[in-house]
Amino acid sequence: MAAPSRPPFLFLIPILTAIFLYYWNVTGQQQVLEAYLVTDLPGRGKGLIATRNISRGELILRDKPLFVFPASIHGSPHELIAKHLTELTDYQRAQFHGLSYLPVSSEADIPLSIFQANAVAAGAGTVGLFPNFARLNHGCAGAFNAVYSFREKEGEIVVHAVKNIAAGSELLTTYFDTKRPRASRQVHLLQAYGFSCQCSTCSLAPSLSTLSDQRLEQMSLLYQRLGLWSSNPQQLRKGAEGEEAVEIARKIWSIGSEEGYVSERGQLAADVVHICLAHSDVRAAQAWADLAIRWYGYELGRDCLQIEIVKKLIARPESASSWARRSPQTLPGTDGLRE
Ligand SMILES: *[C@@H]1O[C@H](CO)[C@@H](O)[C@H](O)[C@H]1NC(C)=O
Ligand SMILES: [Zn+2]
Repeated sequence: MAAPSRPPFLFLIPILTAIFLYYWNVTGQQQVLEAYLVTDLPGRGKGLIATRNISRGELILRDKPLFVFPASIHGSPHELIAKHLTELTDYQRAQFHGLSYLPVSSEADIPLSIFQANAVAAGAGTVGLFPNFARLNHGCAGAFNAVYSFREKEGEIVVHAVKNIAAGSELLTTYFDTKRPRASRQVHLLQAYGFSCQCSTCSLAPSLSTLSDQRLEQMSLLYQRLGLWSSNPQQLRKGAEGEEAVEIARKIWSIGSEEGYVSERGQLAADVVHICLAHSDVRAAQAWADLAIRWYGYELGRDCLQIEIVKKLIARPESASSWARRSPQTLPGTDGLRE
């Protein structure tokens, strides 16, 4: 009698196990391997360096605050900080004391100085100290590659790559609106944060720096002019104020591409969606909504609230509050806009 042969599918078991282990390992590693490393930078304290290539739109870090304050407090801020510090773990206190601060005259002023140099807005009327985020250094205009936003629901800060970031380069966010000339940025950063900015935009050769200044000033002015569409439309082209407004938005976009300033584009495109709806141009509204969704996704995350709002708006344009508020006009779409 022949020996019973093995069931034919048994050979699959080691193969399936190997596949399972491979995927388990790969996903496991991705969770362990951060996209960045905190490191000492010569003459500039600590900073975050990309440990691998990071794609635009990737979530780089999320951070919960050590503590939050109301933006305006009664009583002594020293005491408030001291009280919060006693409630932290040793590890958290060490994180706090490891952060940078402006020079102070007495040791007792250090905690407040740390707080002032590192705290950021954490929702309406609140500031918070986010210990990992606080390591992220500043870059101006075309130099920053990461954008932070506060998530009310989770009470945390998220940081997304707004550009592709090459392994080995520094992650930089921006601490304020840098659409202004180099000299004015330098004064602000020195006063508010105590450093002289040497980001790639601030380090441009004089002739290139002048061009960059001009682009940034022009972007600022164009944003102001775009605001006229809602505040004072008579100052725009008569009977074609929608068209002019969308042309302005397109101009902001293309100067941004030249400057390497690609932040705030989700918001810009979403503003144009409202303009298109007010002038009853659904086609243009749809094109700008697609763009808003894409760029909000890069900068704020694909799961952000802003995207939900745009999606709702465009799903039923006629029921938007801005629908047909102004004269019907055919408006420019998004064709030809560069990345
Ligand atoms: C990052 O991307 C560049 C350009 O695409 C490539 O040459 C390089 O090998 C990548 N580096 C890593 C660490 O993946
Ligand atoms: Zn700078």
